[in-house]
Amino acid sequence: MSRIDNAELRGKVMSAEEAAQFVNHGDRVGLSGFTGAAYPKALPTAIANRAKAEHEAGRPFQIDVFTGASTAPDCDGVLAEADAVRFRSPYQSDPVMRKAINDGKILYSDVHLSHSGWQVRRGYFGKLDVAIVEATRIDADGNLIPSSGVGNNVEYLDTAERIIVEVNSWQSADLEGMADIYRIGPTPGRKPIPITAAGDRIGNPYIDIDLSKVVAVVETDAPDRNAPFKPLDDISKQIAGHFLDFLEGEVAAGRLAYDQYVMQSGVGNVPNAVMAGLLDSKFENIQAYTEVIQDGMIDLIDAGKMTVASATSFSLSPEYAHKMNDNAAFYRKHIVMRPQQVSNHPEVIRRLALIATNGLIEADIYGNVNSTNVSGTRMMNGIGGSGDFTRNGAISSFITPSEAKNGAISAIVPFASHIDHTEHDVMVVITEYGYADLRGLAPKQRVEKMIGIAHPDYRPLLQEYVDQAAAKCGTHQTPHDLAHAFDFHTRLTETGTMKKA
Ligand code: COA
Repeated sequence: MSRIDNAELRGKVMSAEEAAQFVNHGDRVGLSGFTGAAYPKALPTAIANRAKAEHEAGRPFQIDVFTGASTAPDCDGVLAEADAVRFRSPYQSDPVMRKAINDGKILYSDVHLSHSGWQVRRGYFGKLDVAIVEATRIDADGNLIPSSGVGNNVEYLDTAERIIVEVNSWQSADLEGMADIYRIGPTPGRKPIPITAAGDRIGNPYIDIDLSKVVAVVETDAPDRNAPFKPLDDISKQIAGHFLDFLEGEVAAGRLAYDQYVMQSGVGNVPNAVMAGLLDSKFENIQAYTEVIQDGMIDLIDAGKMTVASATSFSLSPEYAHKMNDNAAFYRKHIVMRPQQVSNHPEVIRRLALIATNGLIEADIYGNVNSTNVSGTRMMNGIGGSGDFTRNGAISSFITPSEAKNGAISAIVPFASHIDHTEHDVMVVITEYGYADLRGLAPKQRVEKMIGIAHPDYRPLLQEYVDQAAAKCGTHQTPHDLAHAFDFHTRLTETGTMKKA
């Protein structure tokens, strides 16, 4: 049964190959898609094939690609592999695209997700030519019913000159009613966003579009492609245990009640593991005002521990994506899917006094956090929404194993080699060795706490650096020995480990 209920748009149905002819070399293209969900399934491959054919004919073909966040191998992956992308923003995590970025083949602008749609709308990246957006259905009026995510779809559909819609019948029709589409008004004179609780609905369950801009509609039947989460290991369980201890401490201090926890949880394996830890905790009525719905949140909803989750997209393993598709009519009572400008909006995050929890690449002895650039230079994924939530959460926490790459890399270093979240924003850092509560502390008081959560193998090396820095400028606000601040990273490059021989 067709899911295109609008006669005018039914008349624009064509193949992905035909639709790809509306995308030209040099175009700026806004795609739906956020953490492996809701991205267009057919057009990226069709555009990639077109790029390959053009390249073989000796003609240039590259586009600038904007999304909600990361997509999947059959979107970012195929486009990067075909050398079809000149510029990418605001977030990616595909291995092929990551390599192309770090090989200097693709320019990448890593932008806070709450800013990204607004910046495109304002023309900071130039004029948007095409929006290619997946929907689960088109209603009789031509409105789009979002599929498994909303992301920046509203901004791209509003701004682009041409629109291509993919209607994906793999996505459950019961997702209808989950989305809450609200447009943040223009400035000056913008009204407050009227959300005072995570589950508040303030808009429409569909995206209204200018039908005259639609040049093609493509029907697909293809799954979202997310990687499964890593199975829980002992280290993740220990981190989850310390995170819970921290929350218990907040309850004991009278700053939190067992039924008042509003959660934001970042993408990644470790944040997902923390949610598993909450299943057996005393916390009830947990609410999420976050960016993505992960497996762990579905388990919390199933267990009756989480009452409502607000997000902009799913980031589910294949198993849980199927579970969502089979039971969307149930889950939509507990899930609100918002544009990412709203899900990540500083105004609402502050109002809800949520506890932000994200992963990191490294943190330094003063609490500065690097979430993005490995050894200061190689892009991993991007800042995503971590800055939106860290800067504005009532508590901002980071969780990480103390080491990476079988102990060759310490997550705690003398000086973060790139800084996404400064010591002014980072409040708590948690590893399998405990939590460093940095709140209310001056930089020099933070050092002992941060060394205390480092892996024991690295604690003497960190202390050695602290002593060196004290000898150089111990009375200063933030003592450093700049000539040796990156010795950990230099050793890693030269010898393959941050440890001393
Ligand atoms: N140097 C090199 N590699 C490192 C590293 C470091 N200091 N720290 C971690 N890694 C590697 C790990 O070895 C692992 O690699 P693998 O996949 O080859 O095994 C990978 O990074 C992921 O690390 P993991 O420990 O499994 O944690 P994670 O899945 O939680 O991811 C980040 C950690 C930092 C990559 C991830 O949280 C991220 O991209 N954050 C930025 C965006 C963000 O926070 N978004 C959420 C906002 S809502």
